[in-house]
Amino acid sequence: MTRKTLILGQTLGFHDDPFHAAIDDAARYDAHGGVLVENGTITAIGSADTLRRDHPDAAITDMGRALITAGFVDAHVHYPQTAMIASWGKRLIDWLNSYTFPEESRFGDAAYAAGIAARYFDLTLANGTTTACSYSTIHPASVDAFFAEAQRRGLRALAGKTCMDRNAPDTLRDTAQSAYDDSKALLNRWHGRDRLSYVITPRFSPTSTPGQLGALGALWAEYPDCLMQTHLSEQTDEIAWVNQLYPDARDYLDTYESHGLLGPNGLYGHAIHLTPREKDRLREVDASLIHCPTSNTFIGSGLFDMAGLTARGQRIGLATDTGGGSSFSMLRTMAAAYEIGQLNGSALHPAQLYWLATAGSARALRLDDRIGNLKVGAEADLIALDLASTPAIAQRSARANDIWESLFPTIMMGDDRAIAQVWIKGKPL
Ligand code: GUN
Ligand code: ZN
Repeated sequence: MTRKTLILGQTLGFHDDPFHAAIDDAARYDAHGGVLVENGTITAIGSADTLRRDHPDAAITDMGRALITAGFVDAHVHYPQTAMIASWGKRLIDWLNSYTFPEESRFGDAAYAAGIAARYFDLTLANGTTTACSYSTIHPASVDAFFAEAQRRGLRALAGKTCMDRNAPDTLRDTAQSAYDDSKALLNRWHGRDRLSYVITPRFSPTSTPGQLGALGALWAEYPDCLMQTHLSEQTDEIAWVNQLYPDARDYLDTYESHGLLGPNGLYGHAIHLTPREKDRLREVDASLIHCPTSNTFIGSGLFDMAGLTARGQRIGLATDTGGGSSFSMLRTMAAAYEIGQLNGSALHPAQLYWLATAGSARALRLDDRIGNLKVGAEADLIALDLASTPAIAQRSARANDIWESLFPTIMMGDDRAIAQVWIKGKPL
């Protein structure tokens, strides 16, 4: 006999993308809703009364006025940067050399990597993130540590070995051949095992020779259903450096494109300072851009053009980019996306912010059939949000006239205290 659980509360999911459909058509909100879970899968969504009547045999988990949604999907993180998050005072290249590379050098030690992977998932699950797509370090052991910990916790998770064969310290350089060989071995070990996916991961053009980009492009051609993740046009100094390193390239994107690293399963982090040609090509191939707003303000990178890119129909996900990002929380990340939108002259609606953090990121990762939404057939990775988790939030949401006014104070001011419950494949943590 299958065990049925009926989770009751306010419920929020999406029928459609709220950047393109009217908010009320895009969102599926029920003030007294329910989510039926059987064997880790969502099997019904509807009003609490109807679901109770139709499924009298279900065990009831009543979350009261909490808001039940899909867990957050963080589409770009560096789990090895967990312990050096919030490092002061540098911009991208200096920040990498001063703080990031020394810390990443420690991940050849499998025990150290395992300890940080466990800490990373403790922190992100406490913040309601149920799936993350992570970079690792050049060390295969760092990928094994991340996947082993995700597997132990039953999580859907994505990661890849970060490849670098130049402009990095000796302790953090592989070669074109070893990057290809190690990535392929890790892909064969982990991709498709339980809920894990391997992601081919050249860090960014400055730390790869053309030979290494070509080798990873060849690997992607062998495994085109795999995702490929990298960084693109984050800071102007970085772009100038890429132009020097790749004098024949038409632009930054072309350094990837000319080595087989542009495609629909590509994830391009940051993508702030894009040329018209880059925007056209990214849209044409339907690649995913990953917006990392707390990172973009923290490292001083610039303002992502959410309104312009969504209007062109670009596929976009949202991410913390820890530890260039300054928070593990997707709530804080939504707040930063809102603030960057304001600085760019467009106020993102709470539905758009919440969609980006759940269904939008899942869509960017090509996983929207499985995670990131309340829909029948999806994996039951769920959270319950307390919309009155602090006195400041409670007094503001008490005045709300609708779900969006009630949710927005938690988006802007909420943190891990707002996460009342997390379920992984229907099991409460
Ligand atoms: N570009 C290349 N590597 C990194 C990284 O680790 N973090 C950020 N924010 N940008 C990068
Ligand atoms: Zn990054």
